[in-house]
Amino acid sequence: MISSALRALLQRVESLCVLTGAGISAESGVPTFRGAEGLWSKFKPQELANFEAFKRNPELIWEWYNYRKKIIRETGPNPAHYALVRFEELVTDFTLVTQNVDNLHFRAGSKKVLELHGNIERNFCLDCRKDADNVDVSVDKKLPQCSFCGGLLRPAVVWFGEMLPAEIFEQAAEAARRCQLFLTIGTSAAVYPAAGLPLMALQHGAYVVEINTEKTDISHLVNEILSGKAGEILPELVKIIEESKQK
Ligand code: OAD
Repeated sequence: MISSALRALLQRVESLCVLTGAGISAESGVPTFRGAEGLWSKFKPQELANFEAFKRNPELIWEWYNYRKKIIRETGPNPAHYALVRFEELVTDFTLVTQNVDNLHFRAGSKKVLELHGNIERNFCLDCRKDADNVDVSVDKKLPQCSFCGGLLRPAVVWFGEMLPAEIFEQAAEAARRCQLFLTIGTSAAVYPAAGLPLMALQHGAYVVEINTEKTDISHLVNEILSGKAGEILPELVKIIEESKQK
């Protein structure tokens, strides 16, 4: 149920910041991390999502990333991703920040995406640090190698214990501080610093709305909760903005 305050704000919003998490891709069939069906209930982050693990057993980590890439490549964006493309077209100052590495925002057509945790489709060389995008890193035969220096490639994602790309996070923080409306969508708000963005927005006077199928650690702090699936709720919000533009 969308409140009249949110409806009125959407009708005049000029500055909107959105943070997405794994839940926005759930309706595309991409598994989330937490929760009963989440990846972290079956796999251990300390064995898969850190650099030490990669150094210890790169074959295993590449196998895990190829498994996830296969799921992502076999699916596509859902109505929630497409709704965010419309937001970008409709709202003058729009910032999309994601914790997801699944590339689905770009595949939907979003032009600018601040990827806090990297992108599973990109890689870089551990030796010369050069990017190695669009390579097929199937590890059926051998580990993926850099075409420049022969070094070992790794996925360009942020693992536990690693720093977020500072410049991208700063752009996200600036958007959170200046926006009128902040939407936190499909994230458990359990991983910082990303989870700090809605709190930053609150501190700077934004109206913060959480869109999630469940309660999260920050639900008690936000201004409004839209409980349900992102793919159903976001198109409704888009419709409100579109109708206001037609008047
Ligand atoms: P989580 O798996 O922690 O949370 C997913 C959230 O999405 C949960 O709160 C669900 O209730 C919600 N959800 C599920 N289906 C939904 C739907 N259809 N519509 C709306 N909400 C839905 O994922 P993140 O918060 O993104 O980090 O996790 C944050 C980080 O933890 C990830 O980026 C990853 C992980 O470890 C790294 O890899 C560094």
